[in-house]
Amino acid sequence: MALWGGRFAKGPDESVLKLSRSVEFDWRLAPYDVRVNKAHVAGLKRAGVMSADDAALITDALQELGQEIAAGTFFYDQSDEDVHSAIERGLVAKLGELGGALRAGRSRNDLVVTDFKLYLIDHLLEVAQETILLATTIDEAAAKLIDQIAPGFTHLQHAQPILFSHELAKHSHALLRDVDRMKDWLTRNSVSPLGSGALAGSALVPNPEIIAAELSFQGVARNSIDAVSDRDFVAEALFNFAMLGVHLSRIGEEFTIWNTYEFGWVTLDDGFSTGSSIMPQKKNPDIAELARGKSGRFIGNLTGLLVTLKGLPFAYNRDLQEDKEPVFDSVEQLLTLLPAMRGMIKTATFNGDKIAAGVSDGHALATEIADFLVRAQVPFSQAHEIAGRAVSLAQTNGIEVHQLSDTDLLGIDSRLTPNVREMLSSQAAIASRVSINGTSPKSVTAQLGQLEAKIRGYSSWIASERKRFSGMMGV
Ligand code: ARG
Repeated sequence: MALWGGRFAKGPDESVLKLSRSVEFDWRLAPYDVRVNKAHVAGLKRAGVMSADDAALITDALQELGQEIAAGTFFYDQSDEDVHSAIERGLVAKLGELGGALRAGRSRNDLVVTDFKLYLIDHLLEVAQETILLATTIDEAAAKLIDQIAPGFTHLQHAQPILFSHELAKHSHALLRDVDRMKDWLTRNSVSPLGSGALAGSALVPNPEIIAAELSFQGVARNSIDAVSDRDFVAEALFNFAMLGVHLSRIGEEFTIWNTYEFGWVTLDDGFSTGSSIMPQKKNPDIAELARGKSGRFIGNLTGLLVTLKGLPFAYNRDLQEDKEPVFDSVEQLLTLLPAMRGMIKTATFNGDKIAAGVSDGHALATEIADFLVRAQVPFSQAHEIAGRAVSLAQTNGIEVHQLSDTDLLGIDSRLTPNVREMLSSQAAIASRVSINGTSPKSVTAQLGQLEAKIRGYSSWIASERKRFSGMMGV
């Protein structure tokens, strides 16, 4: 059903209808559109521009329509331009002319942003919840492997020994920052655009604050022109999704490497790997690779929207219809990817012997020699130089730096006494990293406890927001 036409001598060309139509994708906004409509009807009644009887009839019809949409018995058809016109068609079918009454005092321009914000609040919370579940799974694996030592890498070269749990838990920190950004998104963007009308505000609904509160928004946008053209909330959400996608990609990359024959650090469960159509022996880490691959589209969705917004005149322009598909895509892809990643990690077997093998190789204990000298009051620049010479000698002798004899070490520098040997084990190196962010068992145990507390905090935030939001669902 078209929501306009009075001033036109003829209807739009078929090609224009095809170009203009958004209902195939914006139908996802239908449940939110129904809710916003209900709140708007209440506003019209409060303002005295709609009788209580009419308001009751429309509200009941909207209630019914909401149920039919949920059950899949009401759907858009060929005549609908967008979700808003489809829903009005549904109302008119139930109420006749009265079905068109709720269009008073607002425009699709403020309606569509409101629907979209509600969709995003709902789905951002879902993505945040899935992200927390993934972080929890990672932390559980880390806690189980608390005694596991591993070589730590920089530049993909052995650098210093670490606890493998420290390696795993770093991802949880990144994921929780993503959740934190989503929380921050909600605080900033929980303002309702309703009452803005097409661009100048509404003459018929003077108190949009009440409608906003009914829809669980924290306030009302204060400039109607800005409110109908603001898509910062979309760009911010897409950034949050892209950043999360990049984190998932980096997890994916790590698991892909750990899963190689050469590393053999992790064995993926059969249920979370895939085979090859030609090579019968193959078992591939496709989930990890898809995580890596999909980050490209999450970033594309963000950059696409920013380019659409750049240079756009204020108030509503039809370009803004392009804001929705990237969001639906990012949300739906993340909600597919996150549970698969969680399952992959939950069911993975970490091969301790392989992980620990060669933990001190590549002269990974050289820093311990430098640190030992610093404790003996040698300036670090000198200590670094001396340790470097030890590495060079070990290399010449075809051994690791921690395998040099006492005589070799004393020969390099008289301050390199046999006491240094106490430091020259991966266990000692790890145990010495006692800073609050360090890799010592004590530090890592405390960090895992902090992560658990953070997760509890975010989980209760999500639960309370969802409760507030589902209260609004009943509007
Ligand atoms: N389908 C449109 C969108 O998504 C709804 C708003 C249409 N407004 C207009 N003035 N044509 O942006």
